[in-house]
Amino acid sequence: MYCGSFVAHSHFKWLAIWLCIVLLIIYMHSPENFYKPTKLMYKQSVNKNVFKNEMESIDEVAIFNKRPVQKYYVKTKVCKIPYIPPFTEDLMKFYKPKTFETCSNETDLVQANFDEDSKSYRLYINETLAAQKLNSTEVKLNCYYEEITRYAEHDSYNDPLPRIYFSQGYEVPLHVQGMMIHCYEAANETNIVQSDAYAFIQYKPMAEKPQKVETNRQPSVIMFGIDSTSRINVRRTMPQVFKFLRGPGWYEMQGYNKVGDNTFPNLMAILSGYLPDSAKAHVCDTSEKYCFDRFPFIWKHLKAAGYLTAYAEDSWSINTFNYVKPGFVEQPTDYYFRPFLRAFDAKLDTWKCAECSWTYCMGRRLQTSYIYDYGRDFTRRYIKERPIWGLFWTSSFSHDDYSMPSKMDKHILEYLLDFKKDGVLDESIVIFFSDHGARYGRIMDLDSAFLEERLPMMFIYLPTWFREQYPEFADALYINQHRLSSNFDLHNTLIHILQLGRPSEALPLAHDCPKCHSLFYPIDEQRRCVDAAISEHYCTCEPYKRLHAKWADRIAPRVIEHINDYLWARNFSSLCVNLTLHYIHKTEMKMSLDRDFFENDIIEETVYRTKFKVMQNSADFYATVLYNNVTDQVTVDVETISRTNSYDKDSTCLNDKLGKLYCICMKDLRS
Ligand SMILES: *[C@@H]1O[C@H](CO)[C@@H](O)[C@H](O)[C@H]1NC(C)=O
Ligand SMILES: *[C@@H]1O[C@H](CO)[C@@H](O)[C@H](O)[C@H]1NC(C)=O
Ligand SMILES: *[C@@H]1O[C@H](CO)[C@@H](O)[C@H](O)[C@H]1NC(C)=O
Ligand SMILES: *[C@@H]1O[C@H](CO)[C@@H](O)[C@H](O)[C@H]1NC(C)=O
Ligand SMILES: *[C@@H]1O[C@H](CO)[C@@H](O)[C@H](O)[C@H]1NC(C)=O
Ligand SMILES: *[C@@H]1O[C@H](CO)[C@@H](O)[C@H](O)[C@H]1NC(C)=O
Ligand SMILES: *[C@@H]1O[C@H](CO)[C@@H](O)[C@H](O)[C@H]1NC(C)=O
Repeated sequence: MYCGSFVAHSHFKWLAIWLCIVLLIIYMHSPENFYKPTKLMYKQSVNKNVFKNEMESIDEVAIFNKRPVQKYYVKTKVCKIPYIPPFTEDLMKFYKPKTFETCSNETDLVQANFDEDSKSYRLYINETLAAQKLNSTEVKLNCYYEEITRYAEHDSYNDPLPRIYFSQGYEVPLHVQGMMIHCYEAANETNIVQSDAYAFIQYKPMAEKPQKVETNRQPSVIMFGIDSTSRINVRRTMPQVFKFLRGPGWYEMQGYNKVGDNTFPNLMAILSGYLPDSAKAHVCDTSEKYCFDRFPFIWKHLKAAGYLTAYAEDSWSINTFNYVKPGFVEQPTDYYFRPFLRAFDAKLDTWKCAECSWTYCMGRRLQTSYIYDYGRDFTRRYIKERPIWGLFWTSSFSHDDYSMPSKMDKHILEYLLDFKKDGVLDESIVIFFSDHGARYGRIMDLDSAFLEERLPMMFIYLPTWFREQYPEFADALYINQHRLSSNFDLHNTLIHILQLGRPSEALPLAHDCPKCHSLFYPIDEQRRCVDAAISEHYCTCEPYKRLHAKWADRIAPRVIEHINDYLWARNFSSLCVNLTLHYIHKTEMKMSLDRDFFENDIIEETVYRTKFKVMQNSADFYATVLYNNVTDQVTVDVETISRTNSYDKDSTCLNDKLGKLYCICMKDLRS
């Protein structure tokens, strides 16, 4: 509890002290969380928004005082995930919010307007702008487009693009899904006045209505994802978006814990209910061509149930299903953005902002806005008309730098406000989420790095009609905000949503988490990571805290002694050299259930993790050990220590599978 800021003005001193006492009493009476869910509270919230206001007042205090008021995201007998204040002192030493940049301030020379009457796109040429740019109303302008079509075999586009000239008011044929546009001075083809690119959501009328089998309304689901964004970081870097996400109808899954390292396993778990290794064993090897085509992705089930589907992702070279993976041969969803992005990237000028590691601008627009525009057009086209599902995923700005979302805060808020204006929030369930937290950069030095990496943001919006029709589901979701949950629960929630409209539809639940269930049912308070298929390595129920104190450096050398003893005991010492410490990457201490993450209490013996490099061939190791801080003794089973870089060239003298991990052969020693 922090009362410092209240007492700043002596005027209010007494009032402030009173306030503090009252708050303290309230605080002491709610041992779990400040906003412990009660049924009553929720019932009121549907109509009167009590829930929202309460959330707001509490988090606001937490954020602006830089001190932990809300102490836990989850606090149960078996799982304690501490709440990390977003603006801690150590962070503020290097965090600077970034400023938004546009790609072009020039008006569109050619606009693609969707005409509601004819249900088609028309191309409008801005002649005022053309005259301005050509410096005369006399000079003639020529415009043509190049249609982009999908090249299935390569999950890309067909090159070269055919050229088609058009004039004012041109109606884009229905088969054209995306195009490049160029306008030039008629007398001088090299004088290009403007180039642009569009992807269309061409209207698909509903097929003949089948006999009315479904009884219930089928809720649409829009998934809006930002790569590498933790729930700590969304509070930190996107305050405006975060504020929007605390509005009425939004629920934050504060115990959401990732199940894999990077994007691929985490999205696989959500979209298919499988992790890659298990997929290989039970379905197909995801690194082989055609595997994704036959994979039981959620969009397949949704399509079969009558949903229209869309999927768009930026940064084509690291796309979820294409980065060191074969991608799709068959187009996976009704609307699929990848071919257009690949063409845009190849054909338009691109630009990186100063702090960017991926393309920021493609032609006249932000790379990300193509994705969001596609999502906006998709929802505009259909949200009032029929059930839809879409995944709109961006990684270009957030993947490599935890601070970059701050550049996009307002920009993304504008899209969310468009959703609101367009009625998306009246009709649809919206999931605003991430796959994992930041994994690179200085933020990994913070005490909270372990949590940062493992706690992706996960916000779920339920429209009013849904909350009214299924109050028990809304109640459960409300409670689940502070229970441990995982990607597989989200998968099962999607299946659950699908089944609401088609009660007779029997579909398999998440294969790799038999105990997971829809987030519309209350999660057991006694749930542990193993119940949610979260492996020990990723589990935040008893998080590790990064140590910076000198004494923590005593652990790694002790671990190395154990490795050397092991090599001797196994009689490898005539072949392998003794290892010596080069430097320590990091040492972390396990914060067991009885401990407070923010306290530096003295503890004789506990579990630590240490990652270090040895002098010999720069080999890296990662060990989980028991360390006694008084006797300076390490207890570890050497064979559980991970080798985190390649050892192919280091241990050619040994055939022993385990020994190879720890042995640097004398003959392979590089100086
Ligand atoms: C657009 O206008 C803003 C405000 O005048 C300016 O800061 C920005 O640099 C301009 N962007 C481009 C790409 O010219
Ligand atoms: C056409 O371009 C001019 C000059 O940039 C601009 O002022 C005008 O608003 C544009 N018209 C439309 C319909 O966008
Ligand atoms: C535009 O036209 C004016 C008058 O005709 C001329 O003075 C000016 O140099 C022209 N500018 C360009 C960029 O051609
Ligand atoms: C045609 O346009 C290009 C680009 O604006 C320019 O460099 C070139 O001088 C022009 N050629 C003629 C013949 O006007
Ligand atoms: C190598 O390590 C072993 C086991 O810790 C030790 O007994 C031995 O003396 C070491 N050899 C050298 C040359 O340091
Ligand atoms: C270790 O190696 C020596 C010499 O090669 C051999 O005599 C001895 O039996 C080996 N010991 C073990 C435990 O393998
Ligand atoms: C370990 O011991 C050092 C003194 O050697 C002490 O400063 C530190 O707080 C101890 N750590 C724990 C976790 O008890």
